[in-house]
Amino acid sequence: MKIFIPRDAAALAVGADEIAMAFEQVAAKRGLPVEIIRTGSRGLCWLEPMVEVATPGGRIAYGPVSTEDVASVLESMASDGPHALRLGVAEEIPWLKRQTRLTFARCGVIDPRSLDDYRAHGGYKGFERALSLGSEAILNEVTTSGLRGRGGAGFPTGIKWKTVTQAKADRKFIVCNADEGDSGTFADRMIMEGDPFLVIEGMTIAGITVGATKGYIYIRSEYPHAVEAMNAAIVAARRGGCLGDRIGGSAHSFDMEVRVGAGAYVCGEETSLLESLEGRRGIVRAKPPLPAHRGLFGKPTVINNVLSFAAIPFILAEGAKTYADFGMGRSRGTMPIQLAGNLRYGGLFETAFGVTLGELVDDIGGGTFTGRPVRAVQVGGPLGAYFPRALFDTPFDYEAFAARDGLIGHGGIVVFDDSVDMRRQARFAMEFCAIESCGKCTPCRIGSTRGVETIEKIINGERVSENLALVEDLCNTMKLGSLCALGGFTPYPVLSALKHFREDFAPIPTTLQAAE
Ligand code: NAI
Ligand code: SF4
Repeated sequence: MKIFIPRDAAALAVGADEIAMAFEQVAAKRGLPVEIIRTGSRGLCWLEPMVEVATPGGRIAYGPVSTEDVASVLESMASDGPHALRLGVAEEIPWLKRQTRLTFARCGVIDPRSLDDYRAHGGYKGFERALSLGSEAILNEVTTSGLRGRGGAGFPTGIKWKTVTQAKADRKFIVCNADEGDSGTFADRMIMEGDPFLVIEGMTIAGITVGATKGYIYIRSEYPHAVEAMNAAIVAARRGGCLGDRIGGSAHSFDMEVRVGAGAYVCGEETSLLESLEGRRGIVRAKPPLPAHRGLFGKPTVINNVLSFAAIPFILAEGAKTYADFGMGRSRGTMPIQLAGNLRYGGLFETAFGVTLGELVDDIGGGTFTGRPVRAVQVGGPLGAYFPRALFDTPFDYEAFAARDGLIGHGGIVVFDDSVDMRRQARFAMEFCAIESCGKCTPCRIGSTRGVETIEKIINGERVSENLALVEDLCNTMKLGSLCALGGFTPYPVLSALKHFREDFAPIPTTLQAAE
């Protein structure tokens, strides 16, 4: 009997290791031959640890399983009998079934340590086709797919790769940005832990396209399980001839290594990340020059987010058109959306662009965990705008969000119920910026601290109208005068809180002030 138990960090946090041990012990006691395979997570966080058993009719899922349930679950698995935690065939669970999993197709399915398992599930098909196509045709595929940078900025990946391909240099680099720092996001972590060969394959295809022989994946130190999974996969890929000299029997060489960050949010900004990779403190560099022209060690560099590289193998394997057929407007393909915060059904939901914010929150997310009404939704991390219910018809699309002064960023959604105090959320945005600022430019370094102080005055009811005007003015200065997105985007949560939740900032009557 084959039993699948995730080793994803979210599952480990709720006891997946203990469950795996309990299955082994109970099975041994009963003389049941079981093979336990550790996988990534399918992303249904509220059902973790979700355990599956292979049957002729597909994998049957059970969840959330606790150590006390193990004996009875094993019994149900062995007899194909009923159980209160039995969820049926995993792929048929409605939350999974309604997704379009192009990037996350294998996550939670395969053993992330096994190159053979990866290949058996279509892995390296994209790479094989890329080899047969050659650089120009690969660029054409990536451009035609419409893929845009999934880190947040949404810059067309094909144009970025073409710029690096055309740059003349003795060396070029591929850098994968796995410094996933946005609040409420975890897609990079999940794919690194659940399907690490996918990231390696995507980076390798980038390498053979632009003529780079070395890659780095920069992972935040808070992701030890992802670091371990990526390192193990790199070793396995080298052994299997997928990294190193003459990869896949071709004339190309490509190798890569993991570098671990030191905990600064700003190192997710690409130039700051490059500084850190070069061994210096993570301070933002002025652009131009773009990393595509002068990046790591001054050489042309493709730097993309984990999810951008992870989308590439599908595009090459199935063809650009298949990918581009999904989505809306200029947002093509799928987005792994991360549902988090005060939600009943939080997790990873990959779907084509175009789904509305309301569908994501009310329908797929099932409303709040607390059962109270949803009041605000922050989309795109700590630098993203707060959306009220009135904007729930906004489709998940780069341009549609930008038109409403928001951003989809890295696809993180954090939900708040009606107990949220938007003044405190606005203060938090400024405080976050003040703590994480690299200090290079004044609007961000000084502005964020002044922002905290001014919002505090508003919270304390001091000259509220005057201070509100000051905050708005300060936000405009930060927006226009900051060197990078950290200072430049912090105004988004603040201004959206002011615009859509103005009632929270209304001057407090003196009688109430006294009571406070
Ligand atoms: P950007 O718009 O300056 O650049 C986007 C990308 O395109 C960069 O890689 C840049 O080098 C490249 N690029 C721009 N013009 C190019 C050209 N002509 N040729 C080749 N390459 C070109 O945006 P930035 O500052 O890199 O990213 C900001 C975004 O980062 C925000 O939208 C935010 O959502 C996101 N973000 C994501 C976080 C995460 O945890 N994933 C954390 C914080 C912010
Ligand atoms: Fe550094 Fe902030 Fe300026 Fe970005 S905006 S360069 S984080 S000081």
